[in-house]
Amino acid sequence: LTVQVDQPGARVAPTMWGIFFEDINLGADGGLYAELVKNRGFEFPDPMMGWFMLRTSHGRGEVSIRTEDPFDPANPHYARIESRAPVAMGLSNEGFRGMGFRGGEEYVLELRVRRVGGNPRLLAELVNDEGETLAEGRLTDLPRTWEKRTLRLTPRETASRGRLNVLVEGGGTVDVDMVSLFPRNTWKQRPGGLRADLVQMLAELKPGFLRFPGGCIVEGSELDKRYQWKTTIGPVEQRRLLINRWNYEFKHRPTPDYYQSFGLGFFEYFQLAEDLGAEPLPILNCGMACQFNSGELVPLDQLEPYVQDALDLIEFANGPVDSPWGARRAAMGHPEPFHLKYIGIGNEQWGPQYLERYAAFARVLKERHPEITLVSSSGPSPHDDRFDFLWPRLVEMKAEIVDQHCYANPIWFFTSADRFDRYDPAGPKVFFGEYAAQSDRIVSVHNRNNWECALSEAAFMTGMERNAAVVVMAAYAPLFGHVDGWQWRPNLIWFDNLRVFGTPNYYVQQMFSRNRGDRVLPVRLSGDTAAPALARGGIGLGTYRTAAEFKDLVVRRGDEVLYRADFSRRPEGWRWPDSGSWEAADGVLRQTNPRAISTAFVGGPDWTEYTLEVKARKIAGDEG
Ligand code: AHR
Repeated sequence: LTVQVDQPGARVAPTMWGIFFEDINLGADGGLYAELVKNRGFEFPDPMMGWFMLRTSHGRGEVSIRTEDPFDPANPHYARIESRAPVAMGLSNEGFRGMGFRGGEEYVLELRVRRVGGNPRLLAELVNDEGETLAEGRLTDLPRTWEKRTLRLTPRETASRGRLNVLVEGGGTVDVDMVSLFPRNTWKQRPGGLRADLVQMLAELKPGFLRFPGGCIVEGSELDKRYQWKTTIGPVEQRRLLINRWNYEFKHRPTPDYYQSFGLGFFEYFQLAEDLGAEPLPILNCGMACQFNSGELVPLDQLEPYVQDALDLIEFANGPVDSPWGARRAAMGHPEPFHLKYIGIGNEQWGPQYLERYAAFARVLKERHPEITLVSSSGPSPHDDRFDFLWPRLVEMKAEIVDQHCYANPIWFFTSADRFDRYDPAGPKVFFGEYAAQSDRIVSVHNRNNWECALSEAAFMTGMERNAAVVVMAAYAPLFGHVDGWQWRPNLIWFDNLRVFGTPNYYVQQMFSRNRGDRVLPVRLSGDTAAPALARGGIGLGTYRTAAEFKDLVVRRGDEVLYRADFSRRPEGWRWPDSGSWEAADGVLRQTNPRAISTAFVGGPDWTEYTLEVKARKIAGDEG
């Protein structure tokens, strides 16, 4: 193997290996955002979600949710606790799948409180999963009008599924709101900040960029549920709660309690990127809701507010402190600019509708802010060149960076390490913005972060690195998964309420990112260069948003028929399509889910030309 150091090739972008962040799998609320109380402002559609009433054995009284005269009209609901006896009566919060407490460490309870009647005290307790008290503290002299009060609590021992109790003692009526509990030891000790152990895992990746806030949550299932950055900045109690796109009633992993508090909002994302030394890469809604859901569209002549959001975001990140949005940034404690250089327009959008909307954004943004590089979408998983239908149009439109996503099986990753060898370095650059090898199939609950997947991603990453003239950014996705609250797997990093661990895939990312070179050097191989383990030849049979039927599927090597698929039985040697949504009956293979992305593979360690003959017809869908 000869490395030709005297023939330096393309520069490897400092942004090459980065992070994709989305509030999925309790990634933000219940994860990175260190708040331990779920529904702290009683603003969930069911204001008591996450809370239950608590009374000691002789407790008498009531808990009610009220809205008259709140401490802030932006946060209208609060809880009234009436205790009609000297014994305690109150509320308990279950946290996000419990609360993690570390023995001997300090926790900061902060709440808005108002005394309505009597002369009560407020008792706060941290309890373990058996209900045993680990720490307690009292607030006395409660104010007649709303005030913010704080208590510091230090549990005597560790608990992984603890709870917070807030009780009224001594008889009387008390209103409480924005009941918030954080570990004091957050990342950089910032009050109301991020979980230090999780951020540490990100810091150890030395990421080149941080993409936020997603993912599908950018799009929303309908437009009124899209991510809007302006509602995620300023005082936390004024950030408007929104249902999470990953709030599922799914029977295998129900998360009906998944809402976005936006305690981790755009200011905090920019700050995190700065802490990590990563370029911030915000992705904005482009006037389209998720096309897998409603696909709702903003008419082109009404797109202006969306484009204005992008202009205002640039001012929020980079504008002077005397500009309207620069002043908002400064008021949050960051007068210096965040040096935003990239903005993504849309997440996984496709079709002419996307291209029109992207063009409308690009027209204004490139005129007003030529210094900002735009990242455009190319739909979900264009992981087979035949389905890269947006690419030629984006080339014509002179797109700067195109975001491609890919969730496929490890064989795809092994055999696609040459994918970017075929791209023109003079064309748009590629942001391989979401990828992960799926050990079972996409969105399967059986997917695992196994070694084969990690190795296949590493093989694929060598191809991205070799083509650094084309690929300028790449990120594994999703990033985080709470072991008791996930909707998607595999994920790069798993955590529970107290612990965090990196998967094999994490260490692959880390290996590349921490050893990023700055220049591609040609490599010459001599001798037997066959690498059977990595060169399992494959024939992909893919469809994309098209349901199809196949019959008479034959694979030949020369004249020799290797496989003649009998769709009524599983022919030996076939690994069936990995989407799991196929039926084989009466000699016909029928794809039953038009959204599935499917691949079947044959082949061996030899480089052999195969011929695939297939009769196919479309039964639904219009793309692919
Ligand atoms: O990473 C999980 C999801 O996969 C993202 O939200 C979306 O962009 C993609 O479909």
